[in-house]
Amino acid sequence: MFFKKKKSDEERILPTHIAIIMDGNGRWAKKRSLPRTAGHAAGSKTFKSIARYCNKIGIKYLTVYAFSTENWKRPKSEVDNIMNILRDYLKDTDSFKDENIKLEFIGDREPLADDIKELMLKAEADSASATGLHLNIALNYGGRDEIVHAVKRIVAEGINAEDITEQTISEHLYTAGQPDPDFIIRPSGEYRLSNYLIWQSAYAEYWFSDILWPDFGPKDLDRAIEDFSRRNRRFGGI
Ligand code: IPE
Ligand code: IPE
Ligand code: MG
Repeated sequence: MFFKKKKSDEERILPTHIAIIMDGNGRWAKKRSLPRTAGHAAGSKTFKSIARYCNKIGIKYLTVYAFSTENWKRPKSEVDNIMNILRDYLKDTDSFKDENIKLEFIGDREPLADDIKELMLKAEADSASATGLHLNIALNYGGRDEIVHAVKRIVAEGINAEDITEQTISEHLYTAGQPDPDFIIRPSGEYRLSNYLIWQSAYAEYWFSDILWPDFGPKDLDRAIEDFSRRNRRFGGI
């Protein structure tokens, strides 16, 4: 009988850029007869602990989906609740600074409240020189919306059609200059991208799980990375 040997920390291949769709907060709360707000609060705690863990184990880039361009369809009270959780998080970034995490927001900031936009800029500026984990928070982010913005900027810059390459597009996305995610994780039992990083995910590996995001822990991430480590990435070759 053949047993797969568990790889030690030194042997396992770490993804360079992990992207997570933090989904299942509402169902987590429903299971406990709690309001959806309790699910978002619990999900926010999970986010902080997973970001710290990624930093600790040496992941270079982590991109989390916090609010999509489609999430405005939710009741205003829920949208307000999510924005308030973000406010609280941004007012307390000292701990992240201490941990050497570089924070960046991706998405369309324009429709966000002015105070949130200011807090976002401050958090980015305060952590700009951090050399640890590069943490992207996708906020009012949509992959199609991102591509539309990129095309508009390419046209506005007067770049000739014949000079446009895949690199031109990549360099005009919110993630310009960053490596594409090589590992995309979606908990909560859904098997879709929901408009997340649709350009950047062209060759990513995927990992799905029934765990609801507030229940997702470092052990689950370890299990996912263990799987990633065993994948045979061919990129079209043999
Ligand atoms: C993810 O959890 C958080 C956001 C989309 C902001 P959900 O709120 O989508 O949780 P479910 O999918 O309803 O369980
Ligand atoms: C994706 O989750 C967006 C975030 C996690 C922020 P959704 O719950 O909004 O996705 P759908 O509606 O199930 O596709
Ligand atoms: Mg959901």
